[in-house]
Amino acid sequence: MARIAIVTGGSRGIGAAISRRLQDMGVTVVANYAGNEDKAKAFEGETGIRTYKWDVGDFDACQAAFAQITEEVGPVDILVNNAGITRDATLMRMTYDMWDEVMRVNLGGCFNMAKAVFPGMKDRGWGRIVNIGSVNGQSGQYGQVNYAAAKSGIHGFTKALAAEGARAGITVNAVCPGYIATDMVKAIDEKVLNERIIPLIPVGRLGEPEEIARVVVFLASDDAGFITGSTISANG
Ligand code: CAA
Repeated sequence: MARIAIVTGGSRGIGAAISRRLQDMGVTVVANYAGNEDKAKAFEGETGIRTYKWDVGDFDACQAAFAQITEEVGPVDILVNNAGITRDATLMRMTYDMWDEVMRVNLGGCFNMAKAVFPGMKDRGWGRIVNIGSVNGQSGQYGQVNYAAAKSGIHGFTKALAAEGARAGITVNAVCPGYIATDMVKAIDEKVLNERIIPLIPVGRLGEPEEIARVVVFLASDDAGFITGSTISANG
């Protein structure tokens, strides 16, 4: 039987590229989305990949969605924690809500979804969890104390959960993208992007979503069974 994967934030940007690549590998993919219904439905029509709407930052919503997916699609073997948001501002201007929303979705979402999938993976003796970090969680970024803290937290989460999954055939790894040509990066002020960010990328360009997806599908494959607790950077 084909393996089943959940990709959070899986209908747009990096997540959409991951969903498509997993599907190319013969995996049955379920793509989560939170907001953009039109784009999600268009993606579903184009790819045949089922999309489900829920907020990964909401623990109960994750439990309910997981139960529904298990019933309608089957047991989940692969989880890609990709959903992420930005609420950029300097600390001086950042409100508590901007901090909390980013922590709740970007880091809390990893916990909520892992809680849902981990017991079944353990019972079946096989699982793959890939968490999407960020170069900005490794190096920090002006205007992103919330996002950098959440993405940095993903590394500790990944290493700790990798230790817990190791004997049960579950690998847990992180992929850290650099600046990738997605809506999230295109939303940055053009002057900031061109003067402050792109000049610091040694290859001199933004990455493509597929350049992240290729790393993720490798980590999700049988071939990567001896890699766990690792962080792979793909940041140009
Ligand atoms: N490093 C150092 N100084 C910087 C800076 C930087 N990266 N960016 C801005 N500054 C300076 C500016 O030059 C300016 O200085 P002066 O007052 O002396 O001119 C000062 O900080 C204020 O800058 P802004 O006018 O931009 O301040 P703002 O309050 O209007 O905006 C901001 C602040 C929203 C954080 C804006 O700078 C910004 O959008 N920065 C980009 C943040 C970023 O990189 N986000 C990544 C989003 S994509 C992503 O997160 C995906 C991923 O994983 C990689």
